[in-house]
Order: sequence, then C-alpha cells, then structure tokens
Amino acid sequence: MTVCEAPGKVYLFGEHAVVYGEPAVPAAIERRATVTAEPRSDDHVRVEAEDLSLDGFTVEYSGGTGNRPDVDVPTPLVEAAMGYVDAAVREARAAADAPDAGFDITVESEIPLGAGLGSSAAVVVAGIDAATRALGVQLDRRELADRAYRAEFEVQDGQASRADTFCSTMGGAVRVEGDDCEPIEAPNLPFVVGFDGGAGDTGELVAGVGELREEYGFAADTVESIGDIVRTGEELLSDSAPGADPQRELLAELGELMDFNHGLLSALGVSARSLDSMVWAARDAGAHGAKLTGAGGGGCIVALDASDATETALSFTQGCDEAFRAELATEGVRVVE
Ligand code: MEV
Repeated sequence: MTVCEAPGKVYLFGEHAVVYGEPAVPAAIERRATVTAEPRSDDHVRVEAEDLSLDGFTVEYSGGTGNRPDVDVPTPLVEAAMGYVDAAVREARAAADAPDAGFDITVESEIPLGAGLGSSAAVVVAGIDAATRALGVQLDRRELADRAYRAEFEVQDGQASRADTFCSTMGGAVRVEGDDCEPIEAPNLPFVVGFDGGAGDTGELVAGVGELREEYGFAADTVESIGDIVRTGEELLSDSAPGADPQRELLAELGELMDFNHGLLSALGVSARSLDSMVWAARDAGAHGAKLTGAGGGGCIVALDASDATETALSFTQGCDEAFRAELATEGVRVVE
C-alpha cells in the first residue's frame, strides 16, 4: 500500500491572464489531498472517495480506465473526482508500463472541491505518485507534474494550465508562463482563505474573458496589465529572504498588488458578490491585500494577514461559509507511508 499527499494552492497573482501567455504565481498551501493505492491481483479499479465535502462514494470497474460504469454518482463534484482518479490511474499505468495494473484507490481531501484551491490537481498528483510507487516506479518531479497536467488537461477538455499541477507537485511558490514552470523563492506568506461554499464554472469564466478580449482592446490590455502585476510581484519576492517571516513593507507592497489584481479580475467579469464581500471584509479587518483566487464566479478569496483579525472577520461575513489560515506548503507531493 502506498499513501501520497499533495497540497492545494492559491494564486498570489495571475489567474486568467496565464491562459493568454502572461506569467502567474501560484503558491501551495498546507491543505492536502491524500491518495492511497493498493495494487490488486486483477485489472479492476476500485475507487473510494471520502471527505470530498460530501458523502463518501465507492465504485469498482474492470479493464482499462475510461470503462467506468454508468452508475449514479451522488453529485457532479464526486463525478469529477472520479474522473480525475481515472485519469491518474491511466497515467500511472502508462508511466509504469503496466497497462493492466489494478488498484484499490482511496481519496481523502482537506481541500474544498471546485473552489479554486487546486483540489483536482492535488488528487491527480497524489494519485499518480501513489499508483506508480505502488508499482515500484518512482517518477522524477518534472515527469510527475507533466503527467498530472496531461491528466487534468484531458478531464477538463483542454482547459487546464500547468499552474495547479506543477505547484502541487513542487510545493512553495512557482512561476508559470505557458509551458515554462519554475519554482521560485518566497518568504513564509501568511495567507488567509475565505470560501463562499460554492464554485464557479471555470470553462464558462475562461470563455467569458476570451469574449471580452476579442470584443474590446482594453480588455486585452487588462489581461496584459495583470501580467505586469505578476512581474512586479515576482521582483518583490525575489528581493525577499526565502523561508523567513516577511517584513511588513513587503506584505504591504504585495497586498497592494493583490488588491490591484482583484480589481482587474472584477473588470474582466470573474468576481462575484460573495467574493467581493469577503475581499472587502478582509481589507476592513486590516489585511494587507485580498483578491479572488482561481477562476472566480464563486469559491475562494485569499488575503495576506499575519494576525487573526481577517480570519475572524471573514467567519462573520455574510456569504462566507468557511475561513481558515493557510500556511505556505514548502513541500509539494510527499509519501506518507
Ligand atoms: C483556474 O484555477 C485558473 C485559470 O487561470 C484557468 C487556468 O489557468 O487553467 C482561470
């Protein structure tokens, strides 16, 4: 039996613009998805999903992946989780050159599903790592990130960037620009996450930004401006002491850029009333800055605040379902057992 766990992430800067070749900086957070893989003597795959914010669910099927039976899955989110596990098993079989390998897979997650925190990427990364290791193969991190990206790309019909899977594999803060992904140095950023309990439709939101860009030159400029924010943020991070507690001035400057980034995402139509309320509650509570994270439309915001004030304020904010501190996860995917 092999158990691997991989972190979720927030976007410090750059979501949506990354789809158009601008850089983005996601950062891994200490909320993890855990996948257990136990090889079987037959070619069946049995998937048990627990703690996916919903009821547990089990499904077993035989033969190659993609053969999942047409059973009633309790919700679209569980259906999505099953799809990601299926794709992860397919990649693990290919990587280990074991097309008929069967597994008992268990998925547990502390990351709200579909909320912009990279839950699916964490499941895919931990799933491929656990299943390949269970077959005696250890992938290097670049190959693991690459295979995880392919799995997400396939499940999301070609709408995935490399950001989530690369960040979940490597941990820490990373820079993504097109196919170029690199870990970058970052101090111990004090993130606070507010979750509205919902989720936006990434495909629709990405398409909406695309339409605005086509229609208005200034929407295209807005996307480029987000790229400028990312480049400025990166410079600030590169001047800071990696792994140390960040200076107040750095937090203030990064916070200002996050506020700016949120404003531009709002202009592109991807915020929501619940997200704006949480962003303003965080700012009013003294956070250095706050923005939506991920595709938007609903889901999560991320704020920078080393005190407890933002978390407390968010927990009393209308529209906020859950608020929590989220330490930077310096370690990416790891083996637990
Ligand atoms: C979604 O988490 C982030 C987007 O930039 C889409 C992507 O990068 O795949 C909106």
